[in-house]
Amino acid sequence: MGQSFGRAFGTTVEELKNQINIVDVVGRVVPLKRAGANYKGVCPFHSEKTPSFVVSEQKQIFTCFGCGASGDVIEFTKRYYNLDFAEAVEKLAKENGIEISIGGKRNSDKEKYYEINKEAARFFYRAFTEEKNPGYSYMKKRGIDDAILKKFGIGYADDSWDSLYRYFKAKGTDEKVLLELGLISEKNGKYYDKFRNRVIFPIINTSGKVIGFGGRAIGEAMPKYLNSPENIIFQKKNNIYALNISKQDVGREGYGILVEGYMDVISLYQHGVRNVGASLGTALTENQARLLKRYTKKVVLSYDADAAGRNAALRGIDILSGEGIKVKVLHVTDGKDPDEFIKKNGKEAFIKLIDGALPMIDYKLNAAQKGLDLKTEDGKIDYMKKASEILRSLSPVEADIYIKKLAGELKIAEGAIRLEISGNNNTVTATQSRGRQEENKGTNELSNMEATLLKVLMISPSFADRMLEYDGIIQSELGRKILNLMFELYGIKGGFEQYEITDSLDPEESQEFAAAVDSIIVAGNEEQVFDECIKTWKKSEAIKREQELIDRLALADEETGSDSIKELTEELMKVQQEINSFGGRK
Ligand code: CTP
Ligand code: MN
Repeated sequence: MGQSFGRAFGTTVEELKNQINIVDVVGRVVPLKRAGANYKGVCPFHSEKTPSFVVSEQKQIFTCFGCGASGDVIEFTKRYYNLDFAEAVEKLAKENGIEISIGGKRNSDKEKYYEINKEAARFFYRAFTEEKNPGYSYMKKRGIDDAILKKFGIGYADDSWDSLYRYFKAKGTDEKVLLELGLISEKNGKYYDKFRNRVIFPIINTSGKVIGFGGRAIGEAMPKYLNSPENIIFQKKNNIYALNISKQDVGREGYGILVEGYMDVISLYQHGVRNVGASLGTALTENQARLLKRYTKKVVLSYDADAAGRNAALRGIDILSGEGIKVKVLHVTDGKDPDEFIKKNGKEAFIKLIDGALPMIDYKLNAAQKGLDLKTEDGKIDYMKKASEILRSLSPVEADIYIKKLAGELKIAEGAIRLEISGNNNTVTATQSRGRQEENKGTNELSNMEATLLKVLMISPSFADRMLEYDGIIQSELGRKILNLMFELYGIKGGFEQYEITDSLDPEESQEFAAAVDSIIVAGNEEQVFDECIKTWKKSEAIKREQELIDRLALADEETGSDSIKELTEELMKVQQEINSFGGRK
């Protein structure tokens, strides 16, 4: 959305940028010191003690050599204040007394959208509470009390196909808005309700506005959840489910618990574990972490016990710790998710799990051991390499503690571990590699490689296990959605059919997926084709890293001194060697 907006109002945004100095905007919130031609300060986007955050007045950009954050004044405003593109432009314009034509209209638009969602939530709530209905029976069967259902505003969308539409029609509401909010759909000129025969979970932001809905199928119908589409008031990446209710509890307890599902939140809450929220069925984002940080600096991740949940926890650690949040991780030991666990074992047992949650480094180290036999020399060496990679991101004091622990466990000299950590100094951090991937996200088209990989998975679902290792290779929004569906089905029943995937997609998405899959021939060479894709991807990642290093070197020239230039150059040479080992640039 930022993109098309940027284009449509291109001149205005460019003009705006020309009238503002990034040094003033950053300087208001980050103390900056002059350093040669640039300014330097402590990075607001990750926790650090020695400043590695540089603002170039000449280039009007900021770059952090520690976490890799970089961009222009709008990017800074977006990230620092947790805003979307349009909101950032609006804020900058307002602060600098610049007239920007779209500001006022957008706000009143938003108010109208919130109002309609509120009406819809009330409509669903009445259907849930005023007479017998399958939604209420379902939630009772799952053991949720009336008071909790009320607290979360749970509703029911009936199966009449048009009751909500008729309700709004009678009030004279504009169909276009209902379509945009995803409350209705249109086919052959006829409108019909999007949510049918589903339990409705209103999604409410921390200012109390209804921004969207999740609709759970009753029983086994697919897709299990139908969610509101992204629109001007609903962006999954900026919100956390139930934080409107739990934010005080999070503050009171001094930490927040993040779970995967709506039902996990509600179930924990009912059992008295109230400092809880969920990330709306997506991988946790930086913006969600920043939102949480307003209420707490400590988070316990309690994701499902399956492979997907474990992977999500690893990613969650990086995102949260990148924003300076301390993370611990637990996985329930009985049942597949927190809901099942607490229902069976009660609050005290869950609190025990929280007390025993692993600090993030221990969790990462444990995960790195998976699949390795530490009784063998090879296993030990592989583990030490992975462990060193993990410990490299720590402060010297933290690293010291873990080095001692590791040395004891593996019966390896501390010195050897220290050497491993410092010797092979790869300065590209996880946060930076995430930043790089973000560029390609958000499209609804499948790249050739994505189509190929999905085709391989269609033919041999067991490749799902290996795909987990290369998470990040699928970047388009549609590709991720399909991959997640595949993981879900693979997790449930060990395989999937094409129709099971397409059933959960919009018509255009289905078409894109079918066309992609049809156009690719793998013909028995899944293994080879898969390996080729992985190789190509690794190469393109290396090329991106190369560009990033070249950019950083360009910025480093004026002020950061010869040491970091030497480091960056060495790193660059290493990356270029890697590219050559993949057969060179091409
Ligand atoms: N989700 C989704 N679309 C799906 C499946 C899941 O949006 N097709 C999101 C929902 O926000 C859901 C969360 O991912 O709450 C976690 O999924 P899952 O663990 O399957 O759902 P639960 O909340 O545990 O629901 P239930 O207990 O009813 O199975
Ligand atoms: Mn569940």
